Amino acid sequence: MRDIGVGLLGLGNVGAGVVRLLYENATAIEARLGARLVIRGVAVRDLQKTRLAEVDASLLCTDPMELATRDGIDIVCELIGGEEFARDVVLAAIAANKQIVTANKALLAVHGEALYTAAEAKGVDLYYEAAVCGGIPIIRALREGLASDRVESITGIVNGTSNFITSAMASGGSSFEEILATAQREGYAEADPTLDVSGGDAAHKLAILAMLCFGTRVQLDAIHVEGIETLAEIDYAMAKKHGYVIKSLAMAKRLDAGIELRVHPAMVPQSWLLADVPDTKNAVYVDSYALGSSMYYGAGAGMMPTAMSVVSDLIEIGRNICANATGSMPLRSQRQLPATAVVPMSALRSHYYLRFSVEDRPGTLGKLTTILGEHRVSIANLSQRPMAEDTELIAVVALTHEAIEGDVQAALSSIADAGLSLAPPQLIRIAS
Ligand SMILES: NC(=O)c1ccc[n+]([C@@H]2O[C@H](COP(=O)([O-])OP(=O)(O)OC[C@H]3O[C@@H](n4cnc5c(N)ncnc54)[C@H](OP(=O)(O)O)[C@@H]3O)[C@@H](O)[C@H]2O)c1
Repeated sequence: MRDIGVGLLGLGNVGAGVVRLLYENATAIEARLGARLVIRGVAVRDLQKTRLAEVDASLLCTDPMELATRDGIDIVCELIGGEEFARDVVLAAIAANKQIVTANKALLAVHGEALYTAAEAKGVDLYYEAAVCGGIPIIRALREGLASDRVESITGIVNGTSNFITSAMASGGSSFEEILATAQREGYAEADPTLDVSGGDAAHKLAILAMLCFGTRVQLDAIHVEGIETLAEIDYAMAKKHGYVIKSLAMAKRLDAGIELRVHPAMVPQSWLLADVPDTKNAVYVDSYALGSSMYYGAGAGMMPTAMSVVSDLIEIGRNICANATGSMPLRSQRQLPATAVVPMSALRSHYYLRFSVEDRPGTLGKLTTILGEHRVSIANLSQRPMAEDTELIAVVALTHEAIEGDVQAALSSIADAGLSLAPPQLIRIAS
């Protein structure tokens, strides 16, 4: 039986899971692959650290670049994270004719174009199932399962930390800060959770998904991104009252004028499957021409789910190596990717939840609704409630009929200019 040499860059959470799967499931993997995946080296920063998986000390080294280009390594598995250094190591590995597996969404979202180009030029495989939604095989579903279909839109909950926070906020009783601290204590959130709560991590994943769905180049800065930090307890309570659940969604949609790309909190109808995605779980809802709707659900992160995706990629590349067919899978779903126009947010049509913090004075409500009307924003439901016991402010909440985002933003500016809302208004789009 043939041996396939694997060089593991990183032995942290995911790396340790990969080692465990390769050792514990070796017999089953050999049977499925018809070859042995043999770890020939593991690069780490600190040789003395206690690890979550045991490897022979002779395999450890501290020079990822040397390991990535070493003879006897067929597949380089990049699990160190980060952008520039990971890019340099992966490019060096590609230049040395190594096949690549990575779990690094930031690397692909920022430097994907350079890596795909280099891999295609060399005819090597570059697989990245674990980079989006950890253990959920969404890349394979889009690239292979739906290869004959035409994806019209995807809507995903692709960041477990945000979903944990919005789910806990919806239950009430704790503040954003308290829930974030719990997420960090439980190991769901990074020590620096900025990328998670700001929507940046979800944007990295959406860039990869949209490229696969629409066969187009996606620039990260073309994605409209909003985080969940400004959502208040009252927004969650009002969502519930009106039959919604607030979720941070990553959305991409094919339109006549181009594609729509956005990551932001949204009011999701309670009847939707996405409304029921709990805690740190991820889900991607796909609407496609032939299949119709389909949903992919599961663990979006964690040691073993993520490692499972990484090892599946190793097995698939192993098959390609055995069949002398590496480099045969188009990396970007089609070889020449046109850049498609991204439709600006101002052209978006949606229903909106708008919350204003106003003084409890006669006439304020009338002025607010007049300004909204002047900007063609018509109100479907209007309610008000005290903001908090210790303030004189009241929250005015308007649910609108469908409106154009540019009109809504212009109305909010006019309301700000008129000094009507004493705090920045809250705008949450209603998913439909
Ligand atoms: N954790 C998840 O649930 C998850 C899910 C999906 C995708 N991912 C992605 O998977 C990748 C790995 O994540 P992780 O959670 O396993 O990270 P991690 O626990 O921080 O592990 C990173 C590993 O890389 C090693 N490393 C970092 N820089 C290095 C350098 N310059 N030279 C040598 N070794 C270096 C570290 O060595 P030391 O241990 O010696 O410090 C560590 O073993 C990231 O791209 C992440 O975004 C993670």
